[in-house]
Amino acid sequence: MKIKNICCIGAGYVGGPTMAVIAQKNPDIKVTVVDINAARIAAWNDKDLDKLPIYEPGLDKVVAEARNRNLFFSTDVDAAIEAADMIFISVNTPTKTYGQGKGMAADLKYIELCARQIAKVAKTDKIVVEKSTLPVRTAQAIKSILHNTGNGVKFQILSNPEFLAEGTAVQDLVAPDRVLIGGEQTKEGLEAIQALVDIYATWVPLENILTTNLWSSELSKLTANAFLAQRVSSINALSELCEVTGADVNEVAIAIGKDSRIGPKFLKASVGFGGSCFQKDILNLVYIAKSYGLNEVADYWEQVIIMNDYQKRRFGSKIIQTLYNTISGKKIAFLGWAFKKDTNDTRESAAIYVADQLMEEQANIAVYDPKVTAQQMQSDLNYLNTRPEDDNESQLTAEHDPYEACKDAHAVAVLTEWDEFKTYNWQKIYDEMKKPAFVFDGRGILDKSSLETIGFQVYAIGK
Ligand code: UDX
Ligand code: ADP
Repeated sequence: MKIKNICCIGAGYVGGPTMAVIAQKNPDIKVTVVDINAARIAAWNDKDLDKLPIYEPGLDKVVAEARNRNLFFSTDVDAAIEAADMIFISVNTPTKTYGQGKGMAADLKYIELCARQIAKVAKTDKIVVEKSTLPVRTAQAIKSILHNTGNGVKFQILSNPEFLAEGTAVQDLVAPDRVLIGGEQTKEGLEAIQALVDIYATWVPLENILTTNLWSSELSKLTANAFLAQRVSSINALSELCEVTGADVNEVAIAIGKDSRIGPKFLKASVGFGGSCFQKDILNLVYIAKSYGLNEVADYWEQVIIMNDYQKRRFGSKIIQTLYNTISGKKIAFLGWAFKKDTNDTRESAAIYVADQLMEEQANIAVYDPKVTAQQMQSDLNYLNTRPEDDNESQLTAEHDPYEACKDAHAVAVLTEWDEFKTYNWQKIYDEMKKPAFVFDGRGILDKSSLETIGFQVYAIGK
């Protein structure tokens, strides 16, 4: 079976870049990305590539090459579903904020809506691919909806979880460590798997394309993120121990990372991990374990989140204590708001939680982030819903210039590891700050001793 026409529902951080690369590498396949968000689709179609709705290094070039050749962005969801022989579901699956499983289970309402829409519209057989991260056994639910509400056409469900990390999405897609495809182990299931293998095989070596049953594929995605998050929480747990013992967490990370069994990646101590996946996926794992009565398993993984919450709070408390236990009315500058560098995504960013904690103490926060808008920062705070929107607006301002953000501040806090922060004129920043001038480096990216030479009092995570 040769796929000629692909539709992807959801033009977000996953759907957009993934489809752009699939289209670039398969010029003979028509790829249409659809979304109900008309503004987002308009931005994907904007002639000015700086206006793409998501920022990813290198993405503009891929889009420029494939767009309007065989890559299209549209709001006409029904037409794209009808025309496609393979449909990727790449919609958001946030943590539930209501009802059973509140704060832990994934909210599958967007997935279910997609499945119902596909069932309603489809007039020919289709392969439906789960791209969004989903709880284990979601494929079962999708299958049941498709088969019981459809027009009698045949569906095959595949799980093809995305392992791209934001900020390096294009690179991760072009040269993935592996591609994982799960499907039913029946004749039709295996044929569907092969159809998707063929698409990836145009640029990914076959030995890096793994095929499994559906449930292994779904569980592998959650587990990969849980293991990565666990490494960050492990090194963050050690960062506090380093601070009290005089060890240096960067030196410890290098020393243990040289052990080939441990490896050097994901050992950077930080103010805490963020992003749309880690917390959500672990909560998912915890919820599944609990629902099967596996309480010890659930507790084990939940500790990764508890450690992460503690690390964010510990950083905020350090700022408050150091500034003589009173920050009411003081200006504190934030460098960075995104959950990591090279992305404009702010979901679950540590900066949101630290800002909230400091604003609770009546501090005034001035934020500079190279890619995040003021509007996004306000909506992140309002989503937390801890204080009135007016207060958020008056206590937190976004600046377009980092020096302006730091001017007259009592302290500068680094929340995201953007490379440009390292190249700033720190003497100028020092000169324009209130004294004593403090720097709180939540990412361990600045050179502590040269800042101290200028006159700053510096706190860096794990040192
Ligand atoms: C993650 C997975 O890496 C990816 O495979 C999956 O598909 C989606 O989730 P992402 O959330 O984009 O990707 O970012 P990632 O690079 O994993 O970072 C997550 C968070 O951990 C960030 O806040 C990052 O700053 C933090 N982190 C990462 C650390 O604090 N220290 C590290 O050593 C690594
Ligand atoms: P991710 O990081 O998983 O890609 P995003 O929130 O960036 O998540 O993207 C998900 C996209 O899916 C959003 O742009 C949203 O508008 C879109 N979406 C959600 N439900 C539907 C639906 N039923 N039909 C079309 N698009 C949808």
